[in-house]
Amino acid sequence: MVILMSKKEHWEQIYTERKPSQVSWYQSGPYLSLSLIELSHLKPTDSIIDVGGGASTLIDSLLLGGYTNISVLDISSQSLEHAKKRLGDQARQVKWLVSDITEFTPEESYLLWHDRAVFHFLTDAEDRKKYINTMRQSVPAGGHIIIAAFSIGGPEKCSGLEIVQYDADKLKNEFGNKFKLLKTINETHITPNNAEQNFTYYHFLRL
Ligand SMILES: C[S@@+](CC[C@H](N)C(=O)[O-])C[C@H]1O[C@@H](n2cnc3c(N)ncnc32)[C@H](O)[C@@H]1O
Repeated sequence: MVILMSKKEHWEQIYTERKPSQVSWYQSGPYLSLSLIELSHLKPTDSIIDVGGGASTLIDSLLLGGYTNISVLDISSQSLEHAKKRLGDQARQVKWLVSDITEFTPEESYLLWHDRAVFHFLTDAEDRKKYINTMRQSVPAGGHIIIAAFSIGGPEKCSGLEIVQYDADKLKNEFGNKFKLLKTINETHITPNNAEQNFTYYHFLRL
């Protein structure tokens, strides 16, 4: 018998069964994201959202860096519980949003939209359109988008799910003319099982 799980059930199960350090996308530190965030020259009070942030430690680094207006969104509440537990009292400084990004209605604008390995799960063109519309509406002109996705020739699946691989032209084409690509950086991510995964990071400016 084949049991079909919803997207949310899939992610809740992953974060219930595995420790954050056991998932393939685990990083000891989000160094490339942080270097691109530094290049964005944000003020400490500028609003930041980590889309599909899950249990990532990016939030820890941002709090340490003095940023005071941070939201973390994820479809999995369990993933956010891991992050909240790790942060302890500091968790109260963060806005935690449990939502599918394709159904998210932002209540504020964001000067930085960060997404590592989330957009690439959107295999349905309608979902990509909804994601990009939300990003376009909530990131004002002059805002920054930092997004990491599997590269062309990289893995075809992530967490057992199909993904879409990108290069700069393909992503620029998806995002449209309101986003200017400033920089791309390739990364070979080493998973906790010592497998290599080719990622590319893209830094866009909202025009
Ligand atoms: C590969 S993990 C990356 C997590 C984190 N960005 C990092 O780099 O450690 C993908 C994350 O996106 C979340 N996710 C998947 N699809 C989503 C969606 N449609 N909306 C919001 N979050 C989603 C998952 O729960 C998971 O935490």
